[in-house]
Amino acid sequence: MGSILEMKGITKRFPGVIALKDVNLVVQAGEIHAICGENGAGKSTLMKVLSGVYPAGTYEGEIHFEGREQKFSSIADSEEQGIIIIHQELALVPLLSIAENIFLGNEQNKLGVIDREQTHRRTVELLKKVGLSESPETLITDLGVGKQQLVEIAKALSKKVKLLILDEPTASLNENDSAALLDLLVGFRAQGMTCILISHKLNEISRVADSVTVLRDGSTVQTMNCREAPICEDVIIRHMVGREMADRYPHREPDIGEVVFEVKDWTVFHEQHEDRKFIKGVNLNVRRGEIVGIAGLMGAGRTEFAMSVFGRSYGRNISGKVSLRGKEIDVGTVQKAVAHGIAYVTEDRKGYGLVLENEIKHNITLANLPGVSRLGVINEGREYEVANDYRRKINIRCAGVFQHVGNLSGGNQQKVVLSKWLFAGPEILILDEPTRGIDVGAKYEIYMLIAQLAKEGKCIILISSEMPELLGMSDRIYVMNEGAFVAEMQTAEASQEKIMRAIVTAGKD
Ligand SMILES: Nc1ncnc2c1ncn2[C@@H]1O[C@H](COP(=O)(O)OP(=O)(O)OP(=O)(O)O)[C@@H](O)[C@H]1O
Ligand SMILES: [Mg+2]
Repeated sequence: MGSILEMKGITKRFPGVIALKDVNLVVQAGEIHAICGENGAGKSTLMKVLSGVYPAGTYEGEIHFEGREQKFSSIADSEEQGIIIIHQELALVPLLSIAENIFLGNEQNKLGVIDREQTHRRTVELLKKVGLSESPETLITDLGVGKQQLVEIAKALSKKVKLLILDEPTASLNENDSAALLDLLVGFRAQGMTCILISHKLNEISRVADSVTVLRDGSTVQTMNCREAPICEDVIIRHMVGREMADRYPHREPDIGEVVFEVKDWTVFHEQHEDRKFIKGVNLNVRRGEIVGIAGLMGAGRTEFAMSVFGRSYGRNISGKVSLRGKEIDVGTVQKAVAHGIAYVTEDRKGYGLVLENEIKHNITLANLPGVSRLGVINEGREYEVANDYRRKINIRCAGVFQHVGNLSGGNQQKVVLSKWLFAGPEILILDEPTRGIDVGAKYEIYMLIAQLAKEGKCIILISSEMPELLGMSDRIYVMNEGAFVAEMQTAEASQEKIMRAIVTAGKD
């Protein structure tokens, strides 16, 4: 078939950083080509160069698409040639409908007037192609992330697409939604479309990719063909991190003490729909030095539960009790929760975690200013030391801790959020999808830090959609479904099947 895309000798510099160094990428027509690499390796940057986000002239090297050299000066330019990118951060407008989002900037006109009928009809067709049966008038905010991702793809299909680029499309999807999305890509391939897929989920890559290119430190390490011989995850990992990784989870010897943190009969109503009970009488306890996992499908209410406990930053008409060492505490606001030593590390780093226009070191020390101050004055040297310490420990890839967080790669932003709360030194640490978008190597470092906290006697609550992570890290697991805890088990007696069964049987009655 031959290649559809050749990127040759691409070099891209930012002030103080060389993000790409002489990168080469060859993509065959009609294949699914995966790109892997550690956080900050340059994956998203390479795709932004390709799609004209960084226009010709701002990088060195050549792009050949369908045999012709291209110098794109904007996204519109590359779209014109059939290159469509779906970015790592979803870009839909929450309060607009599906149809409005799909045709945003590409409105269906009839004599200069938006043709509603045609918009509606085309949206229905496009939704069908991605397996959605929602009405085109549905607002984006009423869809789960899985469906939003499918709407992004429907939007891509509304344009003439030859090469579809997906930057971590399944990062926030559960297993079923991820599988559906990958099946869709396989279907597109059968119709001759070419696809570039960036993912940290190596099992997905080995499932669908025809070839894999690994980037390390801004350079191409290798492209492997998976059709000749199936590719094993360990090989990809070795190329990514440059060394063998024997274990994915650190070995722990839990030293679990008395119950420290307890939530009783926690009930929460929906923010807008007053009569909708979101969290239904949840009981949870965590012992000293214990890591407690909460399993459940996307939308089970885990995040809502955690947020409502953390200073009631979600929901209304909350009832129930929270106690610390047997004494009831008031967690009525985020400030009060923090003062009691509770920290909640969220999955949404933009919304709650970070000040993007601020330096890395300020972000890391933000939740524990006394830790870097003397007599109420921030000690800059100490702040620098603390930030550098975390930078080293979990390998935050940056030019220096003076860099603005907004310029970091997605995974490295997540590492800053984590550092911030780890440095806050909370008694109770609630981690909500802590390793989302984080590469395998750095995941291990983060697990080590979590294990260390538990060893120091802290209480950890771990919310994760990755079952292997829950099973690999927790001592005990609660299973949540539709706002209620439906099962509780010691991890030693738990398995993926057992957790799934608890969810399915709960749904039946
Ligand atoms: N606008 C920018 N200004 C300065 N540096 C940047 C900018 N965008 C990216 N970088 C730097 O370029 C490098 C590559 O970042 P990129 O986002 O391409 O990584 P990535 O491989 O996509 O990582 P992740 O898996 O975390 O998404 C990083 O060191 C990042 O900090
Ligand atoms: Mg990226």
